[in-house]
Amino acid sequence: MLDKVGQTSAAVAVAGELPIRFSGAGYRVGAVSILCGIDLELAAGPPTVLLGPNGSGKTTLLKLAMGLFAPTTGGITFAGRSTPAAGRRAIVFQKPVMLRRSAAANVAYAMTAAGRPAERSEVARLIAEVGLGGLGDRPARRMSGGEQQRLALARALARDPEVLFLDEPTASLDPASTKAVEDIIARVAGAGVKIVMSTHDLGQARRLAGEVVFLAKGRLIEKAAAPGFFASPSTDEARRFLAGELVL
Ligand SMILES: Nc1ncnc2c1ncn2[C@@H]1O[C@H](COP(=O)(O)OP(=O)(O)OP(=O)(O)O)[C@@H](O)[C@H]1O
Ligand SMILES: [Mg+2]
Repeated sequence: MLDKVGQTSAAVAVAGELPIRFSGAGYRVGAVSILCGIDLELAAGPPTVLLGPNGSGKTTLLKLAMGLFAPTTGGITFAGRSTPAAGRRAIVFQKPVMLRRSAAANVAYAMTAAGRPAERSEVARLIAEVGLGGLGDRPARRMSGGEQQRLALARALARDPEVLFLDEPTASLDPASTKAVEDIIARVAGAGVKIVMSTHDLGQARRLAGEVVFLAKGRLIEKAAAPGFFASPSTDEARRFLAGELVL
């Protein structure tokens, strides 16, 4: 069984998701331009962290990269293909929606949906990995916001993703849970999963980012290796953003 699973995931990995390349990609709803002229390559390597003010387009960019909808102008390719391969991308939204089932059943469902056998021991391991050990039988929708956010992470990892998109993954977590989730993200990234995440927590961005993509008003303003970005951003917008000034 394990051999079979190993072979299956290896076979899918060959098809691959990366790099995800945006070429002049834009997204417009009616007269509103939400993202405009995005040229960006998301490649294997350390985490890419999206930074930018509220409404700058981070969540929309994550959804486009996840393949949830297509850009209205320009294009996006996934390892050179214009349609994403099924299954090896996962996304955790800011407000995850849980199935009306136990925590364990939510994780098991995600595993099955991704074509992996939902073995009890693996489900329990994932739940423990996100610090929810012992809560597997709890109704997922009764769990606290922070617990649900961590459960959503376990559910995403259950898909054995090659790329994991995280939209403000610690937005409603207390400091200890934030640290726990950051540790998981670092571990998952270390194991070779590409992390693409948004955050408003600049400390977190400094701790986790390999590179930073800075957005403002739907445009990609700056993309840089994280140390350089934080030490001396090359655009005035990013400098003002890091200084806590409003970028308008
Ligand atoms: N389907 C839609 N229809 C109309 N406007 C939309 C739609 N989706 C997003 N927007 C608008 O696009 C802009 C970008 O939204 P998005 O959620 O991507 O921003 P964000 O950078 O994630 O912001 P935040 O930091 O607040 O999460 C916002 O002004 C939002 O209101
Ligand atoms: Mg957002």
